[in-house]
Amino acid sequence: MADLKKFYITTPIYYVNDVPHIGHAYTTIACDTLARYKRLTGYDVFFLTGTDEHGQKVERTARKNNETPIQLADRTMQRFKDLWKRLRISYSDFIRTTEPRHIAAAQKLFQAVYDHGDIYLGEYEDWYCTTCEQFLTELQLVNGRCPNCGRPVEKLKEESYFFRMSRYQEPLLKYIEEHPDFIQPETRRNEIISFVKGGLRDLSISRTSFDWGIKIPINPRHIMYVWFDALTNYLTAVGYADDPQKFEKYWPADVHVVGKDILRFHTVYWPTFLMSAGLPLPKKVFAHGWWQVEGQKMSKSLGNVVDPNQIIDEFGVDPFRYFLLREVSFGLDGDFSRQALIQRIDSDLANDLGNLFSRCLTVIEKYRNGIVPEPVGSTEREGRLAAQRAETLIKMDQSMNELAFHQVLKDIWDYINEVNRYIVDTAPWTLVKDKTKQDRLSTVLYSLAEALRGIALLIAPFMPETSEKMWTQLGLPDKPGPEDFASLKVWGGFPPGIQIHKGEHLFPRIHSKGADLEISRRTAKEAPQKASETLDETKKDLAQQTSELSSGQITGNEQNLISLEEFARIDLRVAEILTAEKVKGSSRLIKLQVDLGTEKRTVVAGIAESYTPEELIGRKVILVANLKPARLMGIESQGMILAAVKDKKAVLLSLDREIDVGTKVK
Ligand code: MSP
Repeated sequence: MADLKKFYITTPIYYVNDVPHIGHAYTTIACDTLARYKRLTGYDVFFLTGTDEHGQKVERTARKNNETPIQLADRTMQRFKDLWKRLRISYSDFIRTTEPRHIAAAQKLFQAVYDHGDIYLGEYEDWYCTTCEQFLTELQLVNGRCPNCGRPVEKLKEESYFFRMSRYQEPLLKYIEEHPDFIQPETRRNEIISFVKGGLRDLSISRTSFDWGIKIPINPRHIMYVWFDALTNYLTAVGYADDPQKFEKYWPADVHVVGKDILRFHTVYWPTFLMSAGLPLPKKVFAHGWWQVEGQKMSKSLGNVVDPNQIIDEFGVDPFRYFLLREVSFGLDGDFSRQALIQRIDSDLANDLGNLFSRCLTVIEKYRNGIVPEPVGSTEREGRLAAQRAETLIKMDQSMNELAFHQVLKDIWDYINEVNRYIVDTAPWTLVKDKTKQDRLSTVLYSLAEALRGIALLIAPFMPETSEKMWTQLGLPDKPGPEDFASLKVWGGFPPGIQIHKGEHLFPRIHSKGADLEISRRTAKEAPQKASETLDETKKDLAQQTSELSSGQITGNEQNLISLEEFARIDLRVAEILTAEKVKGSSRLIKLQVDLGTEKRTVVAGIAESYTPEELIGRKVILVANLKPARLMGIESQGMILAAVKDKKAVLLSLDREIDVGTKVK
């Protein structure tokens, strides 16, 4: 009989052809938060993450980099591990699909499905998207491209083994309908139901045209379809092929957390493979939304991919963890912006929590020499404080189980604000002046310490570092653990007589001036316009700096500096001038057509007084490729070329050596 108190949670395993970005960090932080909460509430948690290292996409990226797929995997896998360490991800196991234990498990599952009579040999003749590693029919294509990622697809014709997925249409539908919790959120569940009702076709599950993958056990000429291989990781890590006891204990998973783009693989392919192999299905698959950045899709070509390491360097780990889970309802899409992050840090963390903490410790330090006093009786006001904490705990458990992280944080912050009201209502700074109110002051100071202890525990799954800092400054022993968490059910667990150690402020404010806050907390709908405003502002800042530089005025003044991240938002590219002609009616403007490698653009440049059109053709220049288009003399200019300007004469920036058009300039 499996232990009832176990909790098995997984992230998707990340492809090694890409380095970690906020999308990857998001799922992993969410899982870590839930894993930590479950541990705090007494569960035996198995938390799995890892890397997906096989497949055509990885093989091709490695070839492009002139390395072997395993060299690429070793390198990128380490980047993920390093980031998880910085983000304090408390995983139990990190699985790599190239490990022998996984190869054995994937082959075992394949064999089980084959033995059940669900695999047959045929020929695949249709489309394939290498980016999504997905087989597609003509009907699924959108304008001849992949319906998921929009990239071009390839025609495949090769011998292939097929999985009889069609057999499982009815059993799967029945399972989904009988288990309302299996697919969450609800809207995603409905999407999958209609997809399954639309009919399930048999699925090609082997390839012969490349060999970076696991050989199928029944024919070594065939490589296992990468999704069959990857999904099996969830079984491998809990001992499917090598540890029956562990497998019995942890399988089925309690929750697979995935992004919305890979929900179908997890709720159609995966459960049907498991049904065929006679294995129990995961209890829940939860699909979260996607992050955009400043209102735009995150993409390498736009150069706006957010590196979590940079955010951590600048703002710290806990503010980043907090922001991702507080800003957006888990399940919906979100917009990542620097302004929104700064605003959250300043208002929720530095102000609401940080100031409260420091204020409380200050009064204990000043009025009782830093020793938390014994309370002397209590009033209805303490009763209210205790009652709200009890309610917060109950709501927290429910919302955590629904993966409603934003809701949990909102409720915790309501409680933090109640503690803020309590200190104002009870005014210890007034009580201290009245000799007859010293008992009352003791109760108030004790209640503040007890409230802070509770807050440190409530935020522990979200912000482990801050929680530990609070714990230490409160003078409490060890680290916050399950017994402490359990003690929160009853008010008054703080041991009186403890010496606090007031230390540094929990969250230094980021903003000293109010101006930047104006562009903040954007809704996804407003974002595109606001994003270009932000970019325009950055440009204005840059223009300002450039003019200061040219007149020799640059100073060390911080206000003139931009961060690397702001600079990285400007997409500078090498472009070649294909055509050039003077703009009629203007002595200054030249209309250029430039080649960016992937596309051609029209650019209107104010350089006619410095260059003739003829001498421009064939030159390679630097183009600001993500500038908002502007109309000049009725022509839409789709970018700006860089030039040094003195006394109205422009001198174009050129390149030292030959390099391909489209190359990024950084
Ligand atoms: N290797 C597969 C998963 C196999 S699981 C058996 C894969 N890997 S991935 O690296 O491409 O993506 C991993 C996860 O990152 C997915 O859940 C995806 O939704 C998530 N994200 C990628 N970009 C994202 C955002 N911009 N925002 C939020 N999550 C995003 O798919």
